[in-house]
Amino acid sequence: MNIYNDILQILLNEEDIKRITADIASKISEKYYDGRLLLVCILNGSFMFFSDIVRRITVPCTIDFIRVSSYGESTVSSESLNFMSDISTDAANKNVVLVDDILDTGLTMYKLRQYFLSEKNAASVSVCTLLDKPARRVYDIKPDYAGSEIPDEFVVGYGLDYNDGYRNLPYIGVLKSEIYKKDV
Ligand code: IMP
Ligand code: MG
Repeated sequence: MNIYNDILQILLNEEDIKRITADIASKISEKYYDGRLLLVCILNGSFMFFSDIVRRITVPCTIDFIRVSSYGESTVSSESLNFMSDISTDAANKNVVLVDDILDTGLTMYKLRQYFLSEKNAASVSVCTLLDKPARRVYDIKPDYAGSEIPDEFVVGYGLDYNDGYRNLPYIGVLKSEIYKKDV
């Protein structure tokens, strides 16, 4: 068994990802030079993207992790987020950058931004995503930092999963449709 055989097409290869993460890290470093930058990794999907961004940030920063999942079927917009674990440091008066793998309906980022502003008293909250699927947007949110806009196709790799698999691919690829058809 080889997971590479399940990929229809590569959308972002390792070189694309290097270029994108370097570009985003330099934009964040230019903006937040005052030492109050807190980068928050939204687990599990953004673990690879997050580490590539963080290692290229050149200004002082702290990092933390939050684990959430959205309820409901992927094709139906949902109203609630399931909080599985929260950050462990203080976000008050920090410039928070939320880092996720993909902005789809926007539920995750919309709710987390509200949460960090109203309950964690963050000084500011920006949204950073590797992938943006604007065709699927339900919530009123736009990324402050985005790697690449993609069409409405199901993608995996570089942290993104299908049924918790494929996260270990080093690139972003479109999953062959027969893979999820056989699971229905
Ligand atoms: P949102 O809350 O609807 O914006 O969805 C965000 C989450 O849905 C992401 O963090 C992913 O976990 C998941 N997701 C959305 N589209 C895809 C995809 O094409 N592949 C893998 N996961 C996806
Ligand atoms: Mg995710």
